[in-house]
Amino acid sequence: MDKVTTAAIEVRKHPGGAGAEVLGVNLNDLSDADMAVLRKAYADNGVIFFRDQTLTEDQHIAFAQRFGEIDINKFFPHIDGYPQIAKVGKEKEQKTNIGGGWHTDHSYDQIPAMGSILVARILPSKGGDTLFADMYKAYEALDDETKAEIADLKAIHSNSHVFGSKAYYDNPERREFANDAAVGSAVHPVVITHPLSGRKALYVNPGFTIKFEGRTREQSLPLLQKLFAHAMKPEFQSRFQWRPGSIAFWDNRATWHFALNDYHGEERLMHRITVAGVALH
Ligand code: OGA
Ligand code: MN
Repeated sequence: MDKVTTAAIEVRKHPGGAGAEVLGVNLNDLSDADMAVLRKAYADNGVIFFRDQTLTEDQHIAFAQRFGEIDINKFFPHIDGYPQIAKVGKEKEQKTNIGGGWHTDHSYDQIPAMGSILVARILPSKGGDTLFADMYKAYEALDDETKAEIADLKAIHSNSHVFGSKAYYDNPERREFANDAAVGSAVHPVVITHPLSGRKALYVNPGFTIKFEGRTREQSLPLLQKLFAHAMKPEFQSRFQWRPGSIAFWDNRATWHFALNDYHGEERLMHRITVAGVALH
């Protein structure tokens, strides 16, 4: 039977510039009222963090499906028997990690994924934190002149420089990711009205946004780099330290993230499910 009563869930702002921790909740036992609290916390904060959870693979999938359909990543290897769960890992002997630069997932898709639910499975003894940045705050802190300059611009997001052959992931450690048949690009507004919150957010990211529509890369770079440098300011950021049982659920339209690669010689393994989104305006 579905749970009917709800103990007080607490949503506590992260002390940094992005996200909130949700306390007093068991993701395996969520009532509709709990779900309403989670949805609001997610829409308000862009990324929500959970501690001490015990999701199995099947439970990870069930949790994701309460938010929407699963959007299967075309490049990452998946967990055996679970095509819905991407394996985000770094082996002891590998030097490169996944997501080791500011980016947001799937912005190169026509309908970018809503969010990603990352579950810690194997953690290094220290290091391997993830940084998050709040793109509502980044937008709001722009000066009026820049806001006017970008108000009607669109940008091209592509993944061929990341997942194509001859690309970043075509290195000996990550060659399995390269998939020329699946690379592609999409055009999205530079400023989106967020589909859940109705707030404006800056929607360009250093990982995948290559230029503005109607401009060459060379013409685009000065303004793009100015926006990236602005959005990278520490005041918009939080640093999340993983522990066994930790989960981060971020909104790809409201945040950026960056996986720190400072634990060489140790293994780190995360399981990621990406939830489908909607067209952006
Ligand atoms: C991702 C990603 C961050 C991390 O899964 O999309 O960028 O800390 N991971 O592993
Ligand atoms: Mn990522």
